[in-house]
Amino acid sequence: MRLTDEEKKILQGGQGEPRRIAMKILTHLGEAFGAERMIPVASAHLVACSYQIAGEAGIEIYTRLVEQGARVSVPTTLDPGSIDFERWNEFKTPKEYVKRQIVISELLQKMGVIPTWSCTPYYFLNIPLFGQDLAWSESSAVIFANSVIGARTNRMSAYLDICAAIVGRVPYFGLHIPENRKGEILIELTSELSDHFSDVYFPVLGYLIGQVSEDKIPVINGVPSASFDQLKAFGASAAATGSIALYHMVGVTPEARNLNEAFQGAKPLKKIQIGIGDIQETMENMRTYTSGKIDIVAVGCPHASIEQMRRYAKLLKGKHVHKEIELWICTNEVVEFMAKKMGYIKTIEKAGGRIMVGTCLNDCPLSKWNFCCLVTDSGKFTYYTPTTIGTKCYYTGTEECIRIAIEGRIGEKQ
Ligand code: F3S
Repeated sequence: MRLTDEEKKILQGGQGEPRRIAMKILTHLGEAFGAERMIPVASAHLVACSYQIAGEAGIEIYTRLVEQGARVSVPTTLDPGSIDFERWNEFKTPKEYVKRQIVISELLQKMGVIPTWSCTPYYFLNIPLFGQDLAWSESSAVIFANSVIGARTNRMSAYLDICAAIVGRVPYFGLHIPENRKGEILIELTSELSDHFSDVYFPVLGYLIGQVSEDKIPVINGVPSASFDQLKAFGASAAATGSIALYHMVGVTPEARNLNEAFQGAKPLKKIQIGIGDIQETMENMRTYTSGKIDIVAVGCPHASIEQMRRYAKLLKGKHVHKEIELWICTNEVVEFMAKKMGYIKTIEKAGGRIMVGTCLNDCPLSKWNFCCLVTDSGKFTYYTPTTIGTKCYYTGTEECIRIAIEGRIGEKQ
C-alpha cells in the first residue's frame, strides 16, 4: 500500500504503540483486499462494546490499549451493551455480568468514545453526511448509513473498528469506492404489491431481499415511499438474513433517484420479481409459532425512535398489558429522555410495558426468564432470537404486537 509520510511514521511507532498496532492491522486488511491507500474517516461506531460480544478477551484488549494511552481520534459511538445500566436488576441480569459490562464501559470511555449504547447512532450524536467515509460496525447501522444517508462504510467488524477509530483511517476498498456502489441485481415489485405496500411489509421485504441477494447490491423498484423508521426496519432485516451492506431503493434513497443512476448506467446482472404472494410466504416462514399463548412481546429493534415511542404510547393509552405477558421496548438514553419529557414513558409503564435502554434482547443475558414464545415487529429479532434467546417467534406489525401484548395470545380469544 502507498502510505503517506504520516502513516509511515505511525506504522514505525512514532505516535505510540496503540496507533502503531492499529495501523499495522489496517494495513494488513488493506493488503488482503487490494487497497492501494488509506483514507480518513469522519467517525467510527464500535460493536465489541457489549460484554456478550467482547467477553474477557475484549476486556484484556481494551485494558492493554488504555494502559498504553490509546485514544480515539474521530467521533466514536457505541452499539448496545449487555445491560440496561439503570434497570439491570429489573431485567434479571446477573450481577457479575453487570460488573464486567461496567469495566468495558469505563475502559472505552477512557479512550474517548461517546457512550451512546445504541444501534441507531445516525439519529443523534453520530450523524454522517452524504459521501462521507466512515468506519462503522453493526450491520443495521452500516446498511442505513450507506443506503439511506449515502455515506460510505464497509461492514467493519469487532476490533477492526477500534483500530480505525484510533488512527482515524481505513483502507480504501469495497464500498468506499464509488464504482463499487452500483446496483447489481434488480428487484422489481409487482404493481399489485406496490399499490398495497404497507408498514408491516418493510421488514418482510428486507428479510426476503437479504435471502435472495446473496453478495450482490440490490436495487428495489416499486416501493412507493418510505419513512426513516421504515427504512431502518427494512435494512436491519436485510442485513440480518444476508450480507448486504448497501441497497438502493429507486426514488427513495439518495444514490438511486432513477434506475439508471442506481446501476450507474450498467445493466442488472439479474432481475427478480416480488409479489404479494412472496411477501405472504416469507411472513409465514418468519413465524415458527402461529397460535396460542406467548410470553414476551418485544419491539424497538433497531432501537425505537421518538416517533415509534409516540406510537406505542398511543396504542397503550388506557389499556393494560396482559398479566402473564412481558412487553419490552428497546431504545437508547436520548430517546428515553425525550420520551419521558413528552409523557410517553409514563403512559407505557402505566400500561405495564417495560423500557429497555442501551441494550436489547439479543445482547442481554435472558436465560433466567425462560421465554418460549416471542412476538415482534422486527425482522432482525425474528432472525436472531431463536438462536440468542432460544424462543419460537411470531412476526407481525406494530399495532398487532401491542394488541397481542394486551390480549395475551396469538389468534382468537378462547
Ligand atoms: Fe439493535 Fe439489538 Fe436490533 S443491536 S438492531 S436492537 S438486535
